[in-house]
This record gives sequence, structure tokens and C-alpha cells, in this order.
Amino acid sequence: MTDSLILTEKNGAVFVITLNRPNAMNALCTPLMQALKDALQQAQQDDTIKVLVIMGSEKAFAAGADIAEMKEKTYIEAYKENYITNAWEALATCRKPVIAAVRGFALGGGAELTMMCDIVLASPTAKFGQPEVNLGILPGAGATQRLGKSVGKAKAMDWCLTGRMISAEEAERAGLVSQILPEETFVDDVMKVAQTLAKKSLPSLMMIKEAVLASFETPLAQGITFERRLFHAVFATHDQKEGMAAFLEKRKPEFRDA
Ligand code: HXC
Repeated sequence: MTDSLILTEKNGAVFVITLNRPNAMNALCTPLMQALKDALQQAQQDDTIKVLVIMGSEKAFAAGADIAEMKEKTYIEAYKENYITNAWEALATCRKPVIAAVRGFALGGGAELTMMCDIVLASPTAKFGQPEVNLGILPGAGATQRLGKSVGKAKAMDWCLTGRMISAEEAERAGLVSQILPEETFVDDVMKVAQTLAKKSLPSLMMIKEAVLASFETPLAQGITFERRLFHAVFATHDQKEGMAAFLEKRKPEFRDA
């Protein structure tokens, strides 16, 4: 059952995961999130994969956690199964770059998934929002914490307290979306961005991701020291020598991801 809730495809060094619950706007039920976790772990372990793309359908990236699944859940069930943390944190801890490709609704947990990704590409049809307040709950997969870091306190409060829908333009202006790409060529354009990353050195991509994410967790001086240590370490790689040699010899680098 879990196999069909996501579809996976390897395209060179790019691993595409498509959320596939069309009858429920890709609502993120536990079996779907478990399948996503398994796919992320598979991609993390596969040395030939450099970049991940998570996409939904034209109508919905994901309309949130599954409301039907949550409705009767008790406190003790949520606590014992470690609801959300158990499956969702696999995305937040993925060490390779992850691109979210958003068309249609990205609401509640769907929007929170995009916040765990590194680059968010949206079509003009994308609609973000944190409508949990309309259900008598609050965001539970990180929006109250991560959203403010992307869009600032004023927008985070507005979006979470009103539950209103946010257009792709507003999300891009506010800093939640990296780029808006045309609807007609959306998937091709997303793949072009992914393939651009796939040409880089994997350790370089991973260190950049690790360093940028560290900036959200550490005081500036400590973050700068962390960056400097990684920067020193990169001189131990083949790809640093190759990248710089290729520049000086006016040719394309041949990275070995080592
Ligand atoms: C379960 C959902 C769902 C969801 C949609 N569906 N969203 N099922 N959980 N989050 C189901 C509907 O029940 C319906 O099933 C089918 O998908 C199609 O949805 P419609 O509502 O008929 O479509 P439409 O009228 O086009 O409206 C689309 C929509 C609306 C605006 C996205 O579905 C909607 O408001 N969904 C809920 C959004 C939301 O509140 N998300 C936050 C969830 S809480 P049937 O069987 O009737 O056809 C959350 C908590 C996060 O995410 C904390 C932890 C992660």
C-alpha cells in the first residue's frame, strides 16, 4: 500500500519523489510519511544521488496532515507513537539538498514540508497557508518555529493566526519561496534547477547545506567558526583541487564527489 502513496524516479543524480494521494489532495497520512521517510533514507544512502526533488500534483503539493487520521487520536497515542517526529523529521535531517516543487495547495503540514526543504520552487498556482487555527489546533510540524526564520515575525503571526491562504507571489516576496517558475514548463524547469545542482560536487553541496542550516541554530561567531572549519576541511577533497584546476585550465570540472 505504502508504495503507491509516493512515486519515485531516478533521473541521473536527481531523485524525484512524487506525493501520490490524488483523492485526498496528498493529505499526509502516516503511511505516506513513512514511505517518504524510507525513500529519503534510500536516497541518503545511495552515493549516486546528489539532489532530491519532492513534488505533488498540479492541484496539490499537499493539503496538510491527514485530518481524518488525527480527528480521534488521543494524547497517549500521539505521545507513544511520537506522532510527526517519528516520520517527518527524516526530511529535516536529510543531508543532501532537497527541492520542493509546489503547485496548488501547500497547506498546514504541506507548507511545513516545504520549510524542511532547501530550495522551494513554486508555480503561480501555488497556495500556501497554515490553516490549523481553523481546526482548533496549531501547526505541529515546525511552522511556528521555521516560518518566522524565513518570513519574519509579522508575516508568521499573520499567516498562523489568520489561517489565510498565501499566493505564490506573496510567499516569494516574503522569503518562503525561492523562485516562481511558469506553470506550462514547471516540471521541466524544476528538473533544470535540480540538474544544475547535480553537476556540482556532492561534498560541497552537503557542506553548504550543513553550514547554512547551522546559521539558524548557532550564535554568529560560533557559526562563522563552523563555516571556517568546513572551509578548511574542503581543501582535503579531490573536488576542490579539480574545481580550481579546471577553472585555471579553462575547462569544465570533473568532480568525483570525493
Ligand atoms: C484529509 C483531506 C485534507 C486533509 C483535503 N482532503 N485535505 N483529507 N486531510 N488535510 C480531502 C477532502 O476531505 C476531500 O475528500 C478531498 O481531499 C478533496 O478535497 P476538497 O475539500 O473536496 O477539495 P476543494 O474543495 O478543492 O478544497 C481543497 C482544500 C480543502 C482547500 C485544500 O480540501 C482544505 O481546506 N483541506 C484542508 C486543509 C487544512 O486544513 N490543512 C491543515 C491540516 S492540519 P473527499 O473524500 O470528501 O472527496 C495539519 C496539521 C499540521 O496539517 C501539524 C502536523 C503536521
